[in-house]
Amino acid sequence: MSGIEERARDKLLRKRQEALQGGGPDRIAAQHQRGKLTARERLEVLLDPGSFAEIGAFVTHRTREFGLEKQRIPGDGVITGRGTIDGRPVFVFSQDFTVFGGSLSEMHAQKIVRLQELALENGIPLIGLNDSGGARIQEGVLSLAGYADIFYRNVLASGIIPQISVILGPCAGGAVYSPAITDFILMVEDTSYMFVTGPNVVKTVTHEEVSFEDLGGARVHAQKSGVAHLTAPTDVDTLLLTRRLFSYLPLNWQEKPPRRPSPTPTDTDVPQLKHIVPENPAQHYDVKQVIEALVDPLSFLEIQPDFAPNIVIGFARLGGYPIGIVANQPLVLAGVLDIAASQKAARFVRFCDAFNIPLVVLEDVPGFLPGTNQEWGGIIKEGAKLLYAFSEATVPRLTVILRKAYGGAYDVMNSRHIGADYVLAWPTAEIAVMGPQGAAEIIFKREIAAAPDPAKALAEKTEEYRRIFANPYRAADRGFVDAVIFPEETRRMLYAALDSLQKKHKTRPPRKHGNIPL
Ligand code: HXC
Repeated sequence: MSGIEERARDKLLRKRQEALQGGGPDRIAAQHQRGKLTARERLEVLLDPGSFAEIGAFVTHRTREFGLEKQRIPGDGVITGRGTIDGRPVFVFSQDFTVFGGSLSEMHAQKIVRLQELALENGIPLIGLNDSGGARIQEGVLSLAGYADIFYRNVLASGIIPQISVILGPCAGGAVYSPAITDFILMVEDTSYMFVTGPNVVKTVTHEEVSFEDLGGARVHAQKSGVAHLTAPTDVDTLLLTRRLFSYLPLNWQEKPPRRPSPTPTDTDVPQLKHIVPENPAQHYDVKQVIEALVDPLSFLEIQPDFAPNIVIGFARLGGYPIGIVANQPLVLAGVLDIAASQKAARFVRFCDAFNIPLVVLEDVPGFLPGTNQEWGGIIKEGAKLLYAFSEATVPRLTVILRKAYGGAYDVMNSRHIGADYVLAWPTAEIAVMGPQGAAEIIFKREIAAAPDPAKALAEKTEEYRRIFANPYRAADRGFVDAVIFPEETRRMLYAALDSLQKKHKTRPPRKHGNIPL
């Protein structure tokens, strides 16, 4: 005799089938017509095949008003569950735009909250696939309460498990604040939007006419606001990028990020590093070439590539160890530190520190950007964020001074003084309060003015300053630089340092929490 009678079996099969249909074939076709995948198709791309186990497929809303009592769709606009990415566990929710526009009801929110609690209690990352018209308008305050319940748990989980938000459609009103609290936001070009209020409200309030794309599309958030960390052309590309991002992250703050076998030797020189950085401090080069030559082949994943490009941040692997890279980019604004660059790097440093990802800093920085724009915009407190972020970080921290390390930026960019474990410098390094000519103009002002040939005197004094300070040896004298190395030795030296720091254990004085200048 079989355990479950045929009728009961049929009922479950019917209900399962119903849950798979979401908002029905017409709405699914409309979703496809826009070039978007359905919520379930997205899970298939994001997760390992066959790994998804759904939770709460039969949950429905409880609203009795506005005719909603007649429209009860299993799942209530969000698919929740667990699965794996490269065999590693993850909790995931996927909003279903075909069901009430993916809008967030009380029960929809409760499903996400349940997932947040499971993820937090089990130390497993949470990925949210967002495609939603925001608060379910028919539910009023119940949906606002639902949002707040989610925000609160996003904050509780911050720094404990990685949280990733993928934006694959509209994301309006309250819907943007949960992603904003999470660690990374990925957006699809042309079909995803994030804004607090949409174009219609903008027009009413500020009389500005703006399209969805120009107000909150992927490009805007990648280039102007810095809200988006990564973007890609299609749903599939964005989800595959999410899988790649996930590969660098540990499951939670008590674990190390997953190490892979080193694909190339870690004990040999890399000759191409000899030729990238020009000796002339006025000449530009692309620091990404230095990064690519240093790290394991094809392992560099740049984060926020289009925002504040004067600083480069991203994940990579060095001898198989995941690392976080922060590098000044001399190609853009000579690699100067400004407000946007400081914010970008500070948040990245804090993420890496929270999740045990060692930091490698490549330094070539002429200082902080001067000017009223920067001062009025608060470069003092924004630059201080980066200083604060490095100073509080307890992960292994390595710095390589490639060329310029001038002024306050020398201190800020992971100097020995604020806790770097090892500081290496290339022979081209110039560690000084400012560039030699600027320095000579100030300290020898009178002598230069009184000289029979001021231009010649300036050149001589500049040379004198350069000889004394524009090199790595004064800093090495004091032990501020641990070793002056040839560029080609950098990969093996960094690998050896990183390897030696794997058991690093550093604590900070107990306190409730610090007060980073926000
Ligand atoms: C209920 C919604 C909905 C919502 C969309 N739908 N948004 N239902 N609540 N918030 C429904 C539509 O009625 C429609 O149902 C289906 O979803 C698809 O919507 P369309 O408008 O046909 O799609 P589209 O033209 O693509 O436009 C998508 C959209 C638009 C841009 C998202 O629907 C929109 O502007 N929605 C409202 C956005 C918004 O203002 N939300 C509230 C934000 S305030 P049918 O049955 O016709 O298919 C907020 C406060 C939270 O979130 C604050 C917490 C801090």
